[in-house]
Parts: sequence; C-alpha cells; structure tokens
Amino acid sequence: MNFPFKNILLGITGSIAAYKSIELIRRLREQGATVKVVLTCAGAAFVTPLTLQAVAGGKVYQDLLNADNELQFSHLDLARWAEVILIAPASADFLAKLSHGMADDLLSTVCLASDAPLKVAPAMNQQMWAAAATQANIALLRQRGAQFLGPAQGVQACGETGLGRLLEPADIVAQLQSSTGLLAHLHIMVTAGATREAIDPVRFISNRSSGRMGFAIAQAAQQWGARVTLVSGVVALPTPFGVQRLDCISAQDMHNTVQQHIAGVAVFIATAAVADYRPATQATEKIKKNTAMLTLTLERSPDILAMVARLQPKPFCVGFAAETQNLRDHALQKLHNKNLDMVAANWVNQADIGFDSLNNALQVFWRGGEQILPKTDKLTLARQLLTLVKQRYGCATGTR
Ligand code: PMT
Repeated sequence: MNFPFKNILLGITGSIAAYKSIELIRRLREQGATVKVVLTCAGAAFVTPLTLQAVAGGKVYQDLLNADNELQFSHLDLARWAEVILIAPASADFLAKLSHGMADDLLSTVCLASDAPLKVAPAMNQQMWAAAATQANIALLRQRGAQFLGPAQGVQACGETGLGRLLEPADIVAQLQSSTGLLAHLHIMVTAGATREAIDPVRFISNRSSGRMGFAIAQAAQQWGARVTLVSGVVALPTPFGVQRLDCISAQDMHNTVQQHIAGVAVFIATAAVADYRPATQATEKIKKNTAMLTLTLERSPDILAMVARLQPKPFCVGFAAETQNLRDHALQKLHNKNLDMVAANWVNQADIGFDSLNNALQVFWRGGEQILPKTDKLTLARQLLTLVKQRYGCATGTR
C-alpha cells in the first residue's frame, strides 16, 4: 500500500523521547516522504539540529523571528507546504500551548497557520499525562480534530511505569498509514478464539481454536484504519497494536460482552469457535471419580452471531463456518438461516489449515456470489477477506 503522505512536517518538542525522532525520520523517508523538521527550543536540549539535518537531508527550522529564514522559506511557506503535521514527541507543555492557540515559537505558529491534519504522538511522565489539565487540553485538541497516536504504556525514562511513553517509530508510521486506509473510520468488532464451558471448578469443555484467524483479522483491520474491538476467548496471543481487546471465558461471557459493546459497530466478524453446548449445571466442587460412568447433560449456549444478526439496525455480519463435510451446503445454510451478509467457510479436518495452524484457506459466500481464497498465512488471508468485506459492505450501504 502506498504511504498516504509525501510532505510531512515533523515537530520535535522537549522530551527525552526526542532521540526516537531520528529513527522516525529515517522510517518516514523510507516510505518515500519528504520530512521537514521544526525543532523547538526545548527539543534542541535533547537532540541536536546537526543530527536531525543529517537524517532528514535538509535544513532544520528553529526560529520564528529570523529575518533570513523568513526570506527563504517563511513560517507560512512551511504551513502551506505540509500535507500533515506530526508532533513527535509532543510534550505536556506543547499540548498546553497548542490547545490555547498560542503562537510564540515557530512550531506553534506553523500549527496555527496550517490547515493540514494534525497528528500528535505524546511523550511525558505518566502523572503529567494523567493530570487534569493535560487531559482537558487533549480533549479540546481532539474536539478540534487532532488525532492522537499513543501514548504507549510501559516503563518510562524516569523509572515510573504507566501511560506516557512515545510510540515506537514503526508504530507511528503504521498509524499514519492506517489513518487514511481502506477501512478508515469503520468500527469493526471481531470475535476470536475458543470459549471454555465449566464442568466443575477445574474442568471445562473447549476446542482447539488458537485465536490466530480472528487476531489476524483484527490486526489487518486496524492497519487499514478501522477502529477495532476484539472480543477474545481464551488464547495465548498478544493484543495487536491499537486494538481494543475484551477478554471472555464462556459463551455466555462472550455473548454479554458483545451485547454490551455492539452499539455503533458497522461490521461484525465472528471467527470465534464458541461452544455450541455447555453443561446444564456446573458442580460447585470438583467431581469425584467414584463411578464407572459419568453422564453430563448439555444445553445449547447462546448463539452470539445470530443475536447480532437479529439487531435492528444490524451491522454487516460475517460468519465463519467450520466444516468437515459438505462445506458449500453447510456454509450457505448458515448464510441464510442466520441472516448473514457473508460466510467464510473453512475445512477443519485438515492438519495444515483451520484450527491451531499458521495457515488457512477460505471459501467465501454471499447472496449471489462466492470467491475462493486459496491457502496462505492467516494475515494475508485476513487482508483478502477484508477487501471482500469492504466491497460487499460498500454495496450494502451504497458507499463504495
Ligand atoms: O482460531 P484459529 O486456531 O486460528 O482457527 C480458526 C477457526 C478454524 C476457529 C476459524 O477459522 C473458524 O472457522 N471459526 C468459526 C468456528 C465455528 O464455531 O464455526 P461454526 O460453524 O460452529 O459456527 C458458525 C458461526 O457462528 C461462527 O461464525 C461462530 O463464531 C458463530 N457462533 C457459533 C456458535 C455460537 N454459540 N455463537 C456464535 O457466534
């Protein structure tokens, strides 16, 4: 995918994380972008203009009231040249300045004079981030259309742990990429992984779903600009960057979680292997092995996908069909019986695809059409499926 911005104005403000802007410039230039750097006075205390000039391949702009600069390429020229203004790192002080519309240095003046989209990657101590004044400034900037990239959670330069770290340069580049992507501004909910249905306090019924297919869809959708809510069963996978993850254990948990967060979701993709049946009762104590036979009575668990497809208005609903025989007939039955917009069917009796494997292959059905997506890794397949979803969603809503 082409990088969406050619002319990037990078503002660097006073934060220890300013050293990461060197790597950031390199990565932006690798994407084919031209980067003009505006360095604040506080930023220059952490990283030198000489270093930045060398990596950016051009002049670093610092002074507002400099007659020579204004003659050559004025603050207004910078403001008009920028296709996007990226402030990384953005200090608490600079956010305060920005939110009040101040113009007492070059960077704040260029921000005020430009109509380019503003992307802000904050970096500060976790307490400064949490401070009511900072949060009020952020809310105001968001309200005016600024997009925040991060901050990330973790150990900070000051030794404290919390929210306030600058995103890694690769993640900032990925966020810029996704902000104009194929699925930009679409809210997508994905269910993934296996549910566990308790028999007693230590035993459960479950299945072999690893969650990889659903996590790959969540990751691909986020990278293409969607706001993604990932409702996950029990898996051992890291949360894809930028994705909101809600963890569940049983089918009932997953049902309740989806129901609570479904408002405003445009596309619902159900990859989770939800237990169809659960023990009708759960023993409160561990069941003793004092009989030769043990009979468990199972009852149907709630059908999450069917519940979502009954909503009025309903999201665009994509079901998965895990089949060991008559894949086409069973997938089409699910499409019609559950009132779905699309079904992605996969074989689950082959060793190298489907459950708990790195690869998969899908046969996708919708009313009046179908497409085979041949075997490949799950992330590639997720992108192919999302391309189809976007096309069909566009047809359904007339927005293509
Ligand atoms: O997780 P991986 O290891 O990567 O494996 C991926 C996968 C094989 C689990 C995935 O590709 C897949 O096929 N997911 C659907 C598994 C399944 O439960 O299929 P089903 O044919 O039984 O269910 C049909 C659809 O209804 C599915 O979208 C399912 O999420 C949904 N469903 C089913 C039962 C239920 N109670 N609630 C549901 O929402």
